[in-house]
Amino acid sequence: MSDRPGLEHVQVTVNGKLFERDVEPRLHLGDFLRHELKLTGTHIGCEHGVCGACTVIFNDAPVRSCLMFAGQANGARITTVEGLARADGQLHPVQEAFRNRHALQCGFCTPGMLMTIVAFLSESPTADEVDIRDAISGNICRCTGYETIVDAALDAGRVLRGEA
Ligand code: FES
Ligand code: FES
Repeated sequence: MSDRPGLEHVQVTVNGKLFERDVEPRLHLGDFLRHELKLTGTHIGCEHGVCGACTVIFNDAPVRSCLMFAGQANGARITTVEGLARADGQLHPVQEAFRNRHALQCGFCTPGMLMTIVAFLSESPTADEVDIRDAISGNICRCTGYETIVDAALDAGRVLRGEA
């Protein structure tokens, strides 16, 4: 509860850093990340749960940040695309694989794809092509670059399993 009438107090850890804000109750989590925390790596496409562009990792699970209110994130731990690389700049294996496979064109879907695949591979490191296609079936790439995205996810899986 905020001391300011009509606002909600949100305390949330994003990419390992604690943030506190008073927000409008109707502010969705995606806009909170972008406008309040200035983490604009999370993209907002459809704003009604269809495209997956706004996916972030919320307490270890991928969620669509346009479908949650910022207030619901109170006390949560969130990772956005800005939090994937290490502090020394070393890319996450999934990011590295996207780069090597040229798995993006305009890049609009990329943050959501990355977060979806990172969360999925952490649960299912032995995923095969069918599993990966299923995992990203809720993420729309309007450039239709799905083949290289799947190839990148397969490569990243091999790296995460220590096979490459
Ligand atoms: S912007 Fe959230 S699913 Fe499209
Ligand atoms: S790379 Fe353009 S939307 Fe996927």
